[in-house]
Amino acid sequence: MRMVELIERKRDGHELNKAEIDFVIQGYTSGEIPDYQMSAFAMAIFFQGMSSEERVHLTMAMVNSGEQIDLSAIQGIKVDKHSTGGVGDTTTMIVAPMVASVGVPVAKMSGRGLGHTGGTIDKLEAVPGFHVEIDNQQFNHLVNTNHIAIVGQSGNLTPADKKLYALRDVTGTVESIPLIASSIMSKKIASGADAIVLDVKVGSGAFMKDLNNAQELARCMVDIGNQVGRHTVAVISDMNQPLGDAVGNALEIKEAIAVLQGRGSHNLTELCLTLGSHMVMLAQKANSLEEARRMLEESITSGKALETLRVFLHAQGGDATVIDDPSKLPTAPFIYEVNALEDGCIAAIGADQIGLAAMLLGAGRQTKDSIIDLAVGLVLHKKIGDKVSKGDSLLTIHANASSNPEVEQMIYAAYHISPSPVSAPQLIYEVVT
Ligand code: URA
Ligand code: CA
Repeated sequence: MRMVELIERKRDGHELNKAEIDFVIQGYTSGEIPDYQMSAFAMAIFFQGMSSEERVHLTMAMVNSGEQIDLSAIQGIKVDKHSTGGVGDTTTMIVAPMVASVGVPVAKMSGRGLGHTGGTIDKLEAVPGFHVEIDNQQFNHLVNTNHIAIVGQSGNLTPADKKLYALRDVTGTVESIPLIASSIMSKKIASGADAIVLDVKVGSGAFMKDLNNAQELARCMVDIGNQVGRHTVAVISDMNQPLGDAVGNALEIKEAIAVLQGRGSHNLTELCLTLGSHMVMLAQKANSLEEARRMLEESITSGKALETLRVFLHAQGGDATVIDDPSKLPTAPFIYEVNALEDGCIAAIGADQIGLAAMLLGAGRQTKDSIIDLAVGLVLHKKIGDKVSKGDSLLTIHANASSNPEVEQMIYAAYHISPSPVSAPQLIYEVVT
């Protein structure tokens, strides 16, 4: 096989078979196929797309390029959840203990990464003492006993995806739905989950800005998962404004606790119940979505979900008394309000700008080596559709300085106040099964 011929065939719209796609991915991972040929290949896919079979072959070739996590020592159907990324997205920290509390085994691998705030692990490390340095045996034991544990990413998972994603980033080939779908699914499959619930975000603050693209991505990923024997469901949800009220590491932990106590913000609670219900169904712990949802609501009301969080934090060295006394979480020295400058109705909140404002305060990493400030961030008080009067607090800033002009400017740029009424956007657009 010669790479140049495969590039030409893809360029001309022909379908490649499994052996050909394996050849490309193996050759690229080992370094035999150079970046310039892989760039041309990715661009050919960008323009020609891929058939359902090709997407499956590409995904599995990337899965097989590295190690795969073996979760077979854990009892039950392991269901993983993945979000394509948004602002104020605290769902993992809520959904994980919530579904674990009704018996779904949550064997989670999580990362840190770049972004507006840290990743799930950074957020959890806001709980004094919490750590993810547990070995395999301990991890399996914790999931079998408590139904929940989280470890940091280790091992050499999907090296082909790491290399290809970095190449796509500098060759204008990130925005290809088959490439995105196989990239995300290869990582989930290599992480060992039996079933997967995807939260595909759509809107101004998301990777996918419009519903058609989000639907296509969701369908592609569900198709890949189901074809390789990992039941997959995708929920398409709104990211035209931050999902929860908190954007910041310790602040999001506080919000997660509030949701598990049944007093969290509406949208965040609702999305967690929706994602959680699908996880419960995939884990075969309920006979219908309605029953699954009822189980989760009951678990919140009875305190069982919160108790699962307590057990989970404690088992990984964390001070679980933060649940009763959130003031034990890191707190910022300066806490002050940003007030509305006019009367009206909130028409838009630029989620990207809110995320950037939180990052400027120090809540996220701008480069891989940045140090995160776990205490700082923002707490929103107004969402799209809410009425405001001049002088009302739009949000609270938690910062290291008494004034942060660049951040405040960014926040005013994010909020659009309209003189006429605006209705809140739909939260869940579609569930793809
Ligand atoms: N996120 C991923 O993990 N991969 C992509 O290709 C795009 C977004
Ligand atoms: Ca991603």
